[in-house]
Amino acid sequence: MAHGSGSGGAATGGAVLTQRFCERDATVSKFDALSFWGNTVHRVMLLNSKGGCGKTTIATNLAACFASQGRATVLIDHDGQGSSTRWLNARSQHSAPIHGIEAYQEKVAVTKSFLMRLPEGTERVVIDTPANVKGQQLIELVGRTDSIIIPVLSSQIDIDAVSKFVVELRKLPRVRGGDVRIAVVANRARENTVMFLDLERFLLRSEFDFVARLRDTQNYMQAAETGLGIHELRGARVKKDVGQWAPLVQWVERGAADTPRAMATALSTHPAPARSTAKKPVASIKSSPSRPTPPRSTPHSSEPLPNWREHNFSFSDNRDRYK
Ligand SMILES: Nc1ncnc2c1ncn2[C@@H]1O[C@H](COP(=O)(O)OP(=O)(O)O)[C@@H](O)[C@H]1O
Ligand SMILES: [Mg+2]
Repeated sequence: MAHGSGSGGAATGGAVLTQRFCERDATVSKFDALSFWGNTVHRVMLLNSKGGCGKTTIATNLAACFASQGRATVLIDHDGQGSSTRWLNARSQHSAPIHGIEAYQEKVAVTKSFLMRLPEGTERVVIDTPANVKGQQLIELVGRTDSIIIPVLSSQIDIDAVSKFVVELRKLPRVRGGDVRIAVVANRARENTVMFLDLERFLLRSEFDFVARLRDTQNYMQAAETGLGIHELRGARVKKDVGQWAPLVQWVERGAADTPRAMATALSTHPAPARSTAKKPVASIKSSPSRPTPPRSTPHSSEPLPNWREHNFSFSDNRDRYK
């Protein structure tokens, strides 16, 4: 039962960082495990210790895909490089809303628990992570998700790197216990190359679900320039890409559907957590230096977090809520 064991990893160590995660879990778990209308939240994390394999690209495209389907979607950026955050900042207020959380921010004035709160009614949480995740950070991250997607590029370096990473992953109790679902994705696939065939053989032998092959295309870069995902681009040029995404999206949705509904119903009797007492405005998504205006997904601590239901997923007036 993935949701029930969401904080299991965080409880295994004694470091300061661990303690902070535990404190946060105490508040966040109510939000992670339920929405107030009986839907369950499903969390999916992009993970691979290797940089440049497509974690951010897949995280942002997945978030855009869910949002454009009308899902109340949150994008959590754990990478200090802030690539997902920049993508979200570039997203127009006319696009389907995505609530961003800049999880790597360590602001003194911000209570971490407030920062990490999911808006009521959240259905999908997509989590982007940095490269070179290992040790305690890996335990903590894996403890905070229901599904993991590992993107792999077709190069020997990437295959070697992911092989080592999977050995580390397999050691984690949540992975050994089957509490977290794991899929692998061949990214930037060039289907008729020898290297891609090698990658495919490698991924087919993996114990994890080999769910998608995403081709190498400029469409991702073009979409990202304006904070979009390929599902939100129009025309024949993205038809093939959208088709390649279908099994990946279905894999996530199957995980979401498996989340026990009874658990959400039971938990929905929890009172709503008290508001943060932080005095300063909380920037859940920081403006990038080139964009001085706060993005629309920036809540203030004195404001309630967005309630997805109220807005029926089509709020062009969303910006006003975060002023
Ligand atoms: N399927 C793809 N086709 C073309 N370019 C891609 C694809 N996936 C990722 N990229 C590009 O590869 C680079 C690294 O991808 P990124 O998602 O930032 O990796 P990571 O987050 O793992 O470091 C980026 O420039 C991105 O635009
Ligand atoms: Mg990245």
